[in-house]
Amino acid sequence: MAARGQMMARLARRDSDRPRDAATGHVTPRAARRRREIGKKGDAGRSGKKEGLEREWLTSPEKVRNLTVSRLCERRVITAVNGKLPGPTIWVREGDTLLVHVVNLSPYDITIHWHGVLQKQSGWADGPNMITQCPIRPGGSYTYRFNVSGQEGTLWWHAHTSFLRATVHGALIIRPRNHSFPFRQPHRQVPILLGEWWNADVGDLEKQAFLTGGGIVNISNAFTINGKPGHLYTRCKNHTYKLEVVAGKTYLLRIINSAVNSELFFKIAGHAFTVVAVDASYTKPYDTDVVVIAPGQTVDALMVTDAPSARYYMASQPYFSSLNGPPSFDSTTATAIVRYADADDAPPEMPRMPAFNDTPTAHRFYTNLTGLRRPGTPTVPLEAEEHMFVTVGLGVLACEPTQVVCNRSRGTLGASMNNVSFRFPTSMSLLEAHFSGFHEAEYQPDFPDHPPAMFDFTNNSLNTDPRLAPLLHTQRGTKVKKVKYNATVEMVLQNTAFVGTENHPLHLHGFNFFVLAQGFGNYNATTARSRYNLVDPQVRNTIGVPAGGWAVIRFVANNPGVWIMHCHLEQHVPLGLATVFVVEDGTTPDSILPPPPPDFPAC
Ligand code: C2O
Repeated sequence: MAARGQMMARLARRDSDRPRDAATGHVTPRAARRRREIGKKGDAGRSGKKEGLEREWLTSPEKVRNLTVSRLCERRVITAVNGKLPGPTIWVREGDTLLVHVVNLSPYDITIHWHGVLQKQSGWADGPNMITQCPIRPGGSYTYRFNVSGQEGTLWWHAHTSFLRATVHGALIIRPRNHSFPFRQPHRQVPILLGEWWNADVGDLEKQAFLTGGGIVNISNAFTINGKPGHLYTRCKNHTYKLEVVAGKTYLLRIINSAVNSELFFKIAGHAFTVVAVDASYTKPYDTDVVVIAPGQTVDALMVTDAPSARYYMASQPYFSSLNGPPSFDSTTATAIVRYADADDAPPEMPRMPAFNDTPTAHRFYTNLTGLRRPGTPTVPLEAEEHMFVTVGLGVLACEPTQVVCNRSRGTLGASMNNVSFRFPTSMSLLEAHFSGFHEAEYQPDFPDHPPAMFDFTNNSLNTDPRLAPLLHTQRGTKVKKVKYNATVEMVLQNTAFVGTENHPLHLHGFNFFVLAQGFGNYNATTARSRYNLVDPQVRNTIGVPAGGWAVIRFVANNPGVWIMHCHLEQHVPLGLATVFVVEDGTTPDSILPPPPPDFPAC
């Protein structure tokens, strides 16, 4: 068991909101007292703001120390924030400015990403390692400063350095400021973080996968709900999250897939949901009894407690879309218990889960959602200036010199977008390279708008077609796509059958995008265009591109900076499933990337 340290984050925000208990969001006297104490000696002066306007808000009274947790009957030391797994929930309101002081007391390089925060004019706070910053070294610190203007809903934060996000993550919840929800006010709001657990050091797992060139990390040992695996794991049944409810109320479940490598089905026995938002963008109400959620995505679902008073399981279990891909997957099920106030102790009812490979159910959920149009929110651009057709999938790479146990004649598993397997820079972050004009040394601005050739992308026989061997084998490169400020970018994302088809959840930093259409097989412009939803498309930051299919997204590049787009199945990132947008400055003061903050971590 490797010894790990812990990272501490202190959160400050500019808002006179009442203090809340970090985990539940409820105002507690202890949290309130803490907030007052901290407020006195806080950061108010440092930022030049008037005393009392900008206050320290320590989310947890934990001291900085190693965190040993016990899961599945094993004690393990993990890297975690403020002594919690999942880490503290950050509750803010739309328009707040957050100052998060991250103090890295772990033995690992760390960065934190605020998943889904648009980072308008604050690209230096986005967090992906070597893309917008060099990591915070052990013993170092960095203050992430950004606002959440124009955004509301469920987001989250996580480490953006290797696999550390398995345990370094938490919810970031933005409540409306001056108006109520565009749906009935819930009785309670409950963060539900779906996670994934290994009886191993996740850093070691990742290293091992890299060295052997297999590229695929050992499957996990358990899934979790709010950090706990639940009753179906044969040992240690006491680690179960419990949600106490009262009958006849509406609960807002703020569901986050913080699992590392697994898309998930989520259900609660005896109850149905009305989905009202995904990825912190409101949707038209959508009724369903199953939620499908890819790593990186969030789903806000209303649940009415109208079932007979009893105990019910909520369950989270993988949606495994891969055909001919990785040999196996973690087929276990995490459970938690919803308990009505006066329920007896009869065994809880278990929901009937979809089959692991139930792509029709996943596709129905993913495609039936539509966006809720509200005054003042952006509408879908009807035309695009930039048209990209980008293949997304697995492939084969030559072994790197450092991959010491790699089979050199066979090569190693890779992944790519348009046959470029993204290579992370090592000496300077791309945002610094872009800002300081050093780019030639760090990246090439020639990420292609099209794959090297058009072929029958989703036909499984292409793995054995010698003519396609050059496409099966991809090349590493740090290639970026340059985009003019405010250009509308349309991307057709096309999955390929190289190695195997699979649903890849692609996450774009710095922007929300509209999802115009999705389908199976090869994208066909003529038939697809007639299906584009240009009226009320769903808005997301992470799209699960259908396995053996395609998706079309559009976004407006209204944020100057450097933004990574990558698969949120973490094990595909070192394989190269990523690319980067460099959005140039505009001409107005609010369209120019400001300089980095003074405490920006050096490489
Ligand atoms: Cu949630 Cu780049 O990640």
